[in-house]
Amino acid sequence: MQDNVRPESMKRITTPELASAFIDEQVKELREQIGDKKVLLALSGGVDSSVVAALLIKAVGQQLVCVHVNHGLLRKGEPEQVVEVFRNQMNANLIYVDAVDRFLDKLAGVAEPEKKRKIIGAEFIRVFEEEARKLDGIEFLAQGTIYPDILESDGVKAHHNVGGLPEDLQFELVEPVKLLFKDEVRVVGKALGLPDNMVFRQPFPGPGLGVRCLGAITRDRLEAVRESDAILREEFAKNGLEGKVWQYFTAVPDFKSVGVKDGKRTFAYPVIIRAVNTTDAMTATVEDVPFTLLQHITQRITTEIDNVNRVLYDLTPKPCATIEWE
Ligand code: XMP
Repeated sequence: MQDNVRPESMKRITTPELASAFIDEQVKELREQIGDKKVLLALSGGVDSSVVAALLIKAVGQQLVCVHVNHGLLRKGEPEQVVEVFRNQMNANLIYVDAVDRFLDKLAGVAEPEKKRKIIGAEFIRVFEEEARKLDGIEFLAQGTIYPDILESDGVKAHHNVGGLPEDLQFELVEPVKLLFKDEVRVVGKALGLPDNMVFRQPFPGPGLGVRCLGAITRDRLEAVRESDAILREEFAKNGLEGKVWQYFTAVPDFKSVGVKDGKRTFAYPVIIRAVNTTDAMTATVEDVPFTLLQHITQRITTEIDNVNRVLYDLTPKPCATIEWE
């Protein structure tokens, strides 16, 4: 097993050739470590877990069991893409768990952001644990730990945390990208043939849209967040801002305002757009999005989404605001 310290001699993986050498070496090591045993992976569809899945599929094929938990807080199209890429294209052994109702029931009426985060994290572990218990012969647990997680938090990756499993479900850890930085994980992912929109994805918080549907989550506002986020992403991609802006998303607050549509009074939710640039997420500046594009996005959001009658652009840098609203 690799040590948790990156050797000074380790070259930064910046090219497809270096990625290819890393992949060959990892495949060999993973085969040695895992032998003919089974390995379990919580596959969120984020960059890190997707790269780990692709590496393990290459190394041990059907001995890898991926569990994708759809907690209802993912972006539009994400659960479908996980199934398409991993089950249909890569022929992975993938268990898809539809846990949407379960999560939303647990979250009903809970408005406090940290409580929401705790419920989402704890419920995720519970669902994963239930799936793990149904399986026989699992000896390893794969995780998408990357080097900044080790540097920042003594190896405990908060948002990939399946480390909260009970005593009788402790597996040996498999962490093939734990010495890599994010940009290297992306180069490896590309070399493994993962789609660009998976590999070059912007950061997405573990609790997902749960912290962008502000206050107590309701299904109608969650839908408004998901649909407005999809419109924003589509328009940023079309207008050359995808890959240029570090993080962009929408949030929907838990109050309504008065509007007018087709000569009738409406009482509906606002959508807040946020688009920021940063290097380390400790401070951030606001992207200067062209006004005409903001107007076009506003037009689309207010006409295509039910229950929305107003769009706002958040002009606040970090500090004094955080990037997320909760
Ligand atoms: P803030 O809002 O603190 O966000 O300025 C900084 C970065 O962290 C992300 N973020 C999270 N990531 N779990 C995560 O995995 C979380 O609970 C969480 N909260 C914020 C945020 O999206 C931004 O990139």
